[in-house]
Amino acid sequence: MPDGRITVRADGRIRRLAFDNQARLNALNTHMWSALPGLVRAAEDDDEVRVLIVTGAGDKAFSAGADISEFDQARSGTASQNYDRLNNEAFDALSSCAKPTVAAIRGYCFGGGLELALCCDLRVAGAGAQFSIPAVKLGIGFNARWIRPLLNAVTPAVAKEILFTGGRYGAVDAARMGLVGRVVGDELVGETARELALTIAANAPLSVVAAKRGVDELARNPAAPDWTDLERITQACFDSADYEEGRRAFAEKRAPMFKGR
Ligand code: COA
Repeated sequence: MPDGRITVRADGRIRRLAFDNQARLNALNTHMWSALPGLVRAAEDDDEVRVLIVTGAGDKAFSAGADISEFDQARSGTASQNYDRLNNEAFDALSSCAKPTVAAIRGYCFGGGLELALCCDLRVAGAGAQFSIPAVKLGIGFNARWIRPLLNAVTPAVAKEILFTGGRYGAVDAARMGLVGRVVGDELVGETARELALTIAANAPLSVVAAKRGVDELARNPAAPDWTDLERITQACFDSADYEEGRRAFAEKRAPMFKGR
């Protein structure tokens, strides 16, 4: 049994994944990188789940990034390509997740850990959180694929500062730069992320998915978005029983009970 793992907790309509390798500040080893795509897919396939929360176990770190102690073996020479592939698959699984994702960040959020947080839709950080992509301090070639999630959050100039300097940023600076959306007291991170997730989970799932797909497609392909697909997704909302339920609940002055169809 390897040291690190990703724990899974079901909480009603919320699925919570936590990086757990606390002796190494939740650094992600190959076992954890490999496990993530399957765990994201399992949440996508589970009709009960409407929102994913991604977090770090304990209060010291979201994740201090890739587990450097493995690098001699798993990330040198030609093995580095395989390692990058594992990283890519984990980032892709999270950033293309069909359901909304929220990163709940306490403590260190470095390197691949920050990348994973950036692959989530929303980020809630504790006031004591620290952010960095220290690839240049280790001589790591920062794969160009990983720049996209960063550029979805910050401007090109800010991305260059983060990548060129490998500097560390506190939560307030991270919010100013666009790395995180909300900063709260450290002890409130879990509850704030959960409330955010519950709010999203109570809304009409098809409408939420349409919004997510729309934002992602327009960000990825601003000049020529796939309007046909986006219009199909929008129409699916209007054709849904949930749209009827939303109007009925409004007329009856009660909270809607959405089913995602
Ligand atoms: N991989 C493997 N082990 C890591 C790690 C990582 N990314 N980050 C931290 N650890 C381990 C440390 O080696 C240390 O282990 P030890 O107690 O056996 O010596 C333990 O976690 C605690 O880390 P420590 O450095 O003592 O904590 P700190 O609070 O002084 O500093 C950091 C925290 C995050 C600033 C520092 O650990 C660090 O710079 N880590 C590397 C971050 C990094 O470069 N990530 C990108 C990798 S591509």
